[in-house]
Amino acid sequence: MTVLQGQRRLLGSRGNCGPSVRSRPGSHNGYQRPHRLASRVSAAISTSAAEAGSSSADLEDGKVVDGPDLTVKHFSGLTLPNPFVIGSGPPGTNYAVMKKAFDEGWGAVIAKTVSLDCSKVINVTPRYAKLRCQKEVIGWENIELISDRPLETMLDEFKRLKAEYPGRILIASIMEEYNRGAWEELIERCEEAGVDAFEINFSCPHGMPERKMGMAMGQDCQLLEEVCGWINAKATKPVWAKMTPNITDIAYPARTALAAGCEGVAAINTITSVMGINLDTLRPEPSVEGYTTPGGYSSRAVKPIALAKVMSIAQLIRSEYDNSRDLSGIGGIETGQDAAEFLLLGANSVQVCTGVMLHGYPLVKQLCGGLQQFMSNHGFNSIEDFRGASLPYFTSHHELVRMQKEAIAAKKAARVGLSGDDKWSGDGFVKEAESMVAN
Ligand SMILES: Cc1cc2nc3c(=O)[nH]c(=O)nc-3n(C[C@H](O)[C@H](O)[C@H](O)COP(=O)(O)O)c2cc1C
Repeated sequence: MTVLQGQRRLLGSRGNCGPSVRSRPGSHNGYQRPHRLASRVSAAISTSAAEAGSSSADLEDGKVVDGPDLTVKHFSGLTLPNPFVIGSGPPGTNYAVMKKAFDEGWGAVIAKTVSLDCSKVINVTPRYAKLRCQKEVIGWENIELISDRPLETMLDEFKRLKAEYPGRILIASIMEEYNRGAWEELIERCEEAGVDAFEINFSCPHGMPERKMGMAMGQDCQLLEEVCGWINAKATKPVWAKMTPNITDIAYPARTALAAGCEGVAAINTITSVMGINLDTLRPEPSVEGYTTPGGYSSRAVKPIALAKVMSIAQLIRSEYDNSRDLSGIGGIETGQDAAEFLLLGANSVQVCTGVMLHGYPLVKQLCGGLQQFMSNHGFNSIEDFRGASLPYFTSHHELVRMQKEAIAAKKAARVGLSGDDKWSGDGFVKEAESMVAN
């Protein structure tokens, strides 16, 4: 099925495809189970995630055993067995957890961000704070820095993973100062360790802005252009620039990174946040020795913001690159249906970070099953059948007003019967009465 056929289906079956038709942990989406993947729920997943979409796929080396094909072929050449990628963060901190991710079937793993000198990275505890609605976690703040493990250790673990899982995709997330030599050294050493691609962390919202790292670099398009130029002159592997949402228009840095040679863009990193104030102690959370620093917000609450940013980058990739750049969507994804929304906007793959911290690595089976369920309901056989299908339905508010005026005028013109009792006539009386009969 083509995108256009898919769009017709989307328009034709309103009950199933409006933006609000989705399942959340704990809710029932009413979908019929289209094939035999319906009933296998992994016991290791927490209850709420396990209820999301209520289907679980069997995976072999990340590939679904049956049902609609979930393979992703990125423009950059990266081929993933499924679109679900471990987002950089705690779920990619060391060999043990990355191995677990491959064993469970994640489509790719992006390791925790590394830099050359870990001695400059000093984390604090507590460094997380949750926002709950009833008992469910809907928002998560972190003030965690990049990896505080020695680069040599991380590189040895990359090597080991690639030796054990040669067919799986391992992406290094890297971040450095405004120093060409440092970027070149980091890229060279990661490539020697065998990574398949790079994601550049231009988006960490806290920590080390004084060294112009992370978000401080990603918010400055001039700096970004120069640094992306260095990176792309050196890297022989595909490069994705990970964008910060903490900027007026995310299309600016995304355009800058793509123009400087990056094969793709990933969005979003976390949103600058203050989780709240403890009303007993009057101190902000998470409190470290009575003080805090603004952190990064993630989890379900950020999904609408992430969708808007991904939409904006997808429009740019469609209009300026004829769809020929990678787009990896991130932010609040916990179900296959969440993922479908990002893919419908044009993302090729999606990343999950906080969702793994809440529900564990087996979540990937649930994510694949939920996505397949969505695809089966619409008759989609592959992700390309519907990728970007919802993107054309964004327009300006001005256009919405014009379209609504036209629709009302058309309805008025098509109205049957008399507009008021003063319109009855003696000669046409029978015809006029007939024009208002329903059967
Ligand atoms: C505790 C924590 C640590 C993170 N560390 C990194 C990091 O080292 N590098 C990075 O690029 N993003 C990092 N992120 C951001 C995530 O990769 C992701 O962009 C963001 O959390 C939104 O996705 P999510 O809602 O699925 O978590 C971190 C997020 C969390 C929650």
